[in-house]
Order: sequence, then C-alpha cells, then structure tokens
Amino acid sequence: MVRACFLLLLLGCTRTPAERLLREFEGAYPVAARPNGTVRTFELVAAESDVTIGGEKLHTWSYNQQVPGPELHVRLGETVRVHFTNRLPQATTIHWHGVRVPNDMDGVPTPMRPPIEPGQSFTYEFTPKDAGTFWYHPHIRSSEQVERGLYGVLVVEDAKPQPWSREVTWVLDDWLLTPERTIFPEFNTLHDLMHDGRWGNLLTVSSQKMPVFAARPGERIRLRLLNSANGRIFVPDFGGLPARIVAVDGLYVREPLALGDFELSPGNRLDLDIVMPNLTGSFAVNDRFLRERPNPLAEIRVDGEPAVTPQFDPPAGRIPVWREGADVPVTKELLLDARRGGNFGIEWTINGHAYPDHDHIALPLGKYSRVRFVNKSARLHPIHTHGMFFRLLAREGRRVSEPFFRDTVLVHARETIDVGLVPLDAGDWMLHCHILEHAEAGMMSMIDVH
Ligand code: C2O
Ligand code: CU
Repeated sequence: MVRACFLLLLLGCTRTPAERLLREFEGAYPVAARPNGTVRTFELVAAESDVTIGGEKLHTWSYNQQVPGPELHVRLGETVRVHFTNRLPQATTIHWHGVRVPNDMDGVPTPMRPPIEPGQSFTYEFTPKDAGTFWYHPHIRSSEQVERGLYGVLVVEDAKPQPWSREVTWVLDDWLLTPERTIFPEFNTLHDLMHDGRWGNLLTVSSQKMPVFAARPGERIRLRLLNSANGRIFVPDFGGLPARIVAVDGLYVREPLALGDFELSPGNRLDLDIVMPNLTGSFAVNDRFLRERPNPLAEIRVDGEPAVTPQFDPPAGRIPVWREGADVPVTKELLLDARRGGNFGIEWTINGHAYPDHDHIALPLGKYSRVRFVNKSARLHPIHTHGMFFRLLAREGRRVSEPFFRDTVLVHARETIDVGLVPLDAGDWMLHCHILEHAEAGMMSMIDVH
C-alpha cells in the first residue's frame, strides 16, 4: 500500500505540467455524443424578403423569410440534415458556429468545398457532439450577409432535458438604418473598418424593438441569448431579476454563476437560468456595455397565476481547473494589428498576414496548447475558433479563473490574453475576429489540427 502510494507520487512528479493539464482535461471533458440513428431533416432557403424588424418593414436577406431564421432543434445524438438552397444574388455558405462538425461541413469556402452559387443547393449533414445553444450564419462576405439578416439558432437539447418551465431564445442584434428607414446599403465602410465594425442605430431582440415579455410569478426560464451583431458588444443586465449563467457558448459551466458584467461579444451565447419572483412587477433589461449610456433592450413583466417553480440542478459542466495552465510555454503567439492597404484601404492582420494570406497555426491533436493573443491595436477583437473550445487563462498576465469553456473571447484594446485548449477534432479550422468587418479585411487565419 505504502509502496503503491509512493509509486503514484513518483509518477505524478515525473509528469510534465503539459501532461498533467491533459490528464485533467481527459478526466473532465465529456465524451463526444455518438449518432443514435435518428436524422432530423430541415429545409433552409436563403433569399431576399421583406421582414418586419423593430416595427419597420425592411428588405432583408433571410432564411425561410424569417429573421432570425428558423430555430432548429435536435436532441443530442441525433443527426442534423439541412437541405439548403441559395436564392440570393451572391454565393453563400452556412457555418454552424460552435458545433464540432466534420471539417468539410463547416461552411468555410475551400477549393474542395466551394461556396454555393445562386440557384444551387447543398445538403449539410452532421451529428453534433455537444449539447447547447449554437447558431448558423454564412461564412463568405459575412459582414454583408449576416448584417442583412442571415442568421438563426440551432439548439442541441440534452439527451435528458431538464424541466424548465419554459425555454426562450433571444437573439440580440443591431441594425444600421438610413434616415429613410432602410438598411444602410454600404458595407465594409472605412469608418466601420477603422472602428469596431458596423454598429447600428436600431437594437432588437429577436427582431423586436423593446419587446415586453410576459412571465408568471415563480416560472423558471432558460433564456438562451445570442449576439448576432456584426460588431456591437452587449452587456445584458436584468435589473432586479436573479439571472444565473448556466452555459457559455453552448457548454454548461462548472456551476451556475451570477450574470455579472458578462461581455456578450458577436458570436457569444449565454444560457441563463431565471426564476421569476413571487410577485407582480416589471423588470427592465438593459445593455450596459457603455456604462454611462445603457441601451434599453426589453421588459419582463411578471404577472398572472403563480407557477410552481421546478426544482433541479442544471447539469454541471466538467471543466478542468488548469491551475498550471499558464505555466507551460506558449505554443503559439498571435499578434493582432492593422495596417494600410488591401481592398478596403485598411487591413486587419494576424502575425502580419491578412487573409487569405495567412500563417498556418499548427496545434497538436489531443494535446494541451497554450495560445497567446497580443492586441497591438486600439480596437476590440472578439476572437473565435472553429472546431474547438478553449478556456481563458489570463488577461494581461493575471490569472482569470472562468469556470467554463468558450468559443469566442473578447480581446480588449492593447490587451494580451492567454487561452488553454486541447483540440479534439482533426482538420483545418478557422480562427478569426468575429467583428465581421475586421474578419473581412483580413483578420482570419487557420488552425491546422493533426
Ligand atoms: Cu460565427 Cu467563423 O464564425
Ligand atoms: Cu477585430
């Protein structure tokens, strides 16, 4: 017995920090779901259509004439099959943001998998490996296509869903309208490119301006939030309502945490668990990204017959602590910057390259990597990775202990951050800024996982 313990201790000591980090990850991260044989089929058609957005009739580009596009639901283990037709005046693709899909279903245009031309169709098929709140949007000319209304939510339900009283989705977006109340027709303007992308003058919650959301006292709601804006960051504030975060970017957190000042960047999702108080009242929901100038988003009105509050603990995300996460050498350092030049007069660069020119980032499959982002610029960069989740380890060298994984993290002006990750899916995966104008002007690269 004593000898066995001694041996274990010895083994523990001889392992390198990177091996210990990997061990911890393997003990924590859930195994990918396997296909259970059920296929859910959906039809999506992208086309121009008039849709009422925030009370205005706008000429949008949309999926199935809806903005947001239809909310697709599948259960973990089921296969998603999407028959997609492009009726837009431009080529397009669909990217399944946050979903670990086969590399060639990722919606990134490549010579092997070119974009879908006007009039053409394509069938996307994949079995999500993780449950959670995901979304879909084009991955070509996305600064224009997403802005015109092409986006929707994909919910992968748990194999055994929890009994929330109700599940609700709010897609936060902003629209830049002309004085004539039409979608501002110029995209990738120099102004947007030099700042934090295109910020609009009409804020909407699932295409409604300042909706009033009715709830009953005691109701327990799972609220799925998505920021589908091109550039705007939202810091949602629910006033007196006790909003707890249960999932970030799809995946459950280790244990529910208070909402706080969570920066919901373009691409980010948050799943909130909110128990409505046992009284009638009205609660304002505001965006407080600009502290001095909050933006009203919605109102939650609690009224009517009290509901019985379902009692349960949301599933706990298995998140490694990775206390030593920032002790191992940096695997790859990425400098985020801008320079004059390119098609738009300004280029956003990663290590001095503007996409499609890019510096391949090789990360080993199934091994721990530490990646550092150094923002040399004075602008914001919500950095997103396809095909993998990461944990934020440090900001400006100071340890951050977020008890969750992400697929998108905001790098502030002139900030340096460190993330830790173990890529589990082989392939070439995009890494880019989710301010779509920055991405369009070069801030994209490829992570090669092999
Ligand atoms: Cu939401 Cu590469 O995208
Ligand atoms: Cu950026």
